[in-house]
Amino acid sequence: MLRGQYMTPYEVAELMAGLINITADEIRILEPGAGIGSLIAAAVEFFAAKPTPPRVIKVTAYEREPILAMHLEITLRQCAIYAKAAGIHFESQLIRGDFIKRASRTLDVKRPEYKAPDEHYNLILTNPPYRKLRSDSLHARLLRRQSISATNLYTAFVSLAIRLARPGAEIIALIPRSFCNGPFFRGFRKLLLRDTAICRLHVFESRSSVFKADSVLQENVILKAVRSADQGDVVVSCANGSPGSISSEESMHKSLLIWEDDPGEFIHIVLGAEDKSLIALMRRLPTTLADLGVEVSTGRVVDFRALDHLRRLASPHTAPLIYPGDLVAGHVVWPHQTRKPNSVALNEVTKKKLLLPSGNYVLVKRFTAKEERRRVVAAVYNPDLVLGAESPWVGFENHLNYYHSAGAGISAQLAYGLMAYLNTSLVDRYSRLYSGHTQVNVTDLRSLRYPTLAQLLTLGSVANGGLPEQHVLDQALGRVLESPSL
Ligand SMILES: C[S@@+](CC[C@H](N)C(=O)[O-])C[C@H]1O[C@@H](n2cnc3c(N)ncnc32)[C@H](O)[C@@H]1O
Repeated sequence: MLRGQYMTPYEVAELMAGLINITADEIRILEPGAGIGSLIAAAVEFFAAKPTPPRVIKVTAYEREPILAMHLEITLRQCAIYAKAAGIHFESQLIRGDFIKRASRTLDVKRPEYKAPDEHYNLILTNPPYRKLRSDSLHARLLRRQSISATNLYTAFVSLAIRLARPGAEIIALIPRSFCNGPFFRGFRKLLLRDTAICRLHVFESRSSVFKADSVLQENVILKAVRSADQGDVVVSCANGSPGSISSEESMHKSLLIWEDDPGEFIHIVLGAEDKSLIALMRRLPTTLADLGVEVSTGRVVDFRALDHLRRLASPHTAPLIYPGDLVAGHVVWPHQTRKPNSVALNEVTKKKLLLPSGNYVLVKRFTAKEERRRVVAAVYNPDLVLGAESPWVGFENHLNYYHSAGAGISAQLAYGLMAYLNTSLVDRYSRLYSGHTQVNVTDLRSLRYPTLAQLLTLGSVANGGLPEQHVLDQALGRVLESPSL
């Protein structure tokens, strides 16, 4: 494996080729980051097997790794032979170099390499590399010149490919599903939703199935989009068995996946009737966090940056420092017996930059392990119940999100109500719709709907003595939501 890159499994390449609908006489294929050329080979096989194959296939393939480019050259030669046998004229151009640099020049009118839109492609196939892109890197600068804000190589590749696609071109990409939510991919979602119409999202595991796709595929989706088309319904499909097959698919109204009133422009992958009713239930909840006068932020203490201020043990001159590991069954259990520091020294810097006034806060883990039963894990920090937490201050470590009111605590009843709600199966299952990863961002928590204040206060009474069993909590939420008096 070169530089941690994975080649596309051939059965997945065939699945992607099977999604091609384009029927032009001349097919111009672009594959950026083509590896050994599996996607091109699968596409040529697909076209050759058609009752009326296209007259011409022209391929442009970019590959930066010399060894892979050698294999790619062989694949392209084999494709030419295969296409010829099917009566297709096949031409290919192998560009051994960096796609981002080359494509930026192709799009720059002032460069000799500039290609006018009529030379652009009508089929883009890609399984791009993924790696975070530093904003001060050459790649990021080149992209900014094209008004593309990319935070990862894969969104950079797909964004540039979209620019190189003709109106009506099909873009079929195997990419991580992380682009569907979160603030880092907002720029990409904007570009995608503005310049293309999404027509299919294919995932590799149904939530209800016992089949586990391999972990790399599970984090990925096949996105099919059409350049400069009007957004219509979206087909959502999934593979329950072998990753090369489609075991179920359903056409969803666009408003289910892309909500008009969502400022973050998340793309919700909805699978089947169960997910649909879950979304409907969540959207019926009347209240936003702002209505409750509550905000959610990320813990201020980044421990390795604040080493000078952290203390192993608590003293009258320190404030408790709470880590995700301290969240136990809806409560905070502190001090911890681990090697992590237990407290933050009280001084002018820490009071200003790291600490919050002591009070009731709802804490939510930002990262949950895959094995953890729940995606959203919430607990209440109630200083009255944390032995030894007499300090007027408290610190929350950066792997936690905390609910607060203008930087201070909230009432105990509301804190228990929010904690109980966040720990329900409704929130857990709803959060899993966002994406395959196990992160809970503040934007996710802000975009949730909440029960009313009265409903939350009632719900809090079932959890203030500790987190009840899941079914008890879920039934309590059901009762509260159905109660006509709340
Ligand atoms: C996931 S692999 C694609 C695999 C390919 N579909 C196949 O099955 O052979 C991504 C490819 O992008 C190439 N790559 C990474 N960065 C690149 C860049 N800046 N320009 C061109 N190719 C790049 C990698 O060398 C790798 O071969």
